[in-house]
Amino acid sequence: MFSMQPIAIVRSPYQDTQAIPKGLGAKHEVEGSLEVLPEFEPGLTDIEGFSHLYVIRAFDRAEGCDLVTTTPSDDRPHGVFSTRSPRRPNPIGLTVVELLGREGPVLHVRGIDMLNGTPILDIKPYLSSVPPERLRRGWLAEAEARSGAKP
Ligand SMILES: C[S@@+](CC[C@H](N)C(=O)[O-])C[C@H]1O[C@@H](n2cnc3c(N)ncnc32)[C@H](O)[C@@H]1O
Repeated sequence: MFSMQPIAIVRSPYQDTQAIPKGLGAKHEVEGSLEVLPEFEPGLTDIEGFSHLYVIRAFDRAEGCDLVTTTPSDDRPHGVFSTRSPRRPNPIGLTVVELLGREGPVLHVRGIDMLNGTPILDIKPYLSSVPPERLRRGWLAEAEARSGAKP
C-alpha cells in the first residue's frame, strides 16, 4: 500500500457533475485554475513553456465502482478500464488541459472537466508521441460511427 497527498486543488465553475458536458462530441472549453499548494510551488519551475499539461486527479466525489459500465457515449456496456468512468477501483482521473498562464502557484488553464475543489495528485507536461495513423479509438470510434458524431 502507499499513500498520496494532493499537490494542488482545482478551481472550476462546476459545482455539480450534471453541469459538466458528457457524451459523444462533448467539448471541454471551460477555463479554471490549478492552485498549487505553497510547499510544491518550486516544482512549477519552467512549466510556462508547455502548451498543454496532464492533470492527474482524484475523483474524490465518486462512490463505488462498476467493473462493467455504460457511459454517456454509448448504450453498450464496456469494461471500466476501456472507459473514463469516475466509478473505478482506484478513483483516479486524467485530464489534458491547455496552459493559458501562470501567476505564482496558480496555473490558469482551459479544458476543465473537473468539479470545483477536486484534489490534484500530479501535473506533468503533455507530450504526445503517438502518430495519428497508429491511434485506434476502439468502441468509441464505433459508437461515433453509429451516431454520426465527429471525434
Ligand atoms: C468521464 S470523467 C473523465 C475524466 C478524465 N478526462 C479522465 O479521462 O479521467 C469526467 C466526469 O467525472 C465527473 N467528475 C468530475 N470531477 C469529479 C470529482 N472530483 N469527483 C467525482 N466525479 C467527478 C464528472 O461527472 C465529469 O463529467
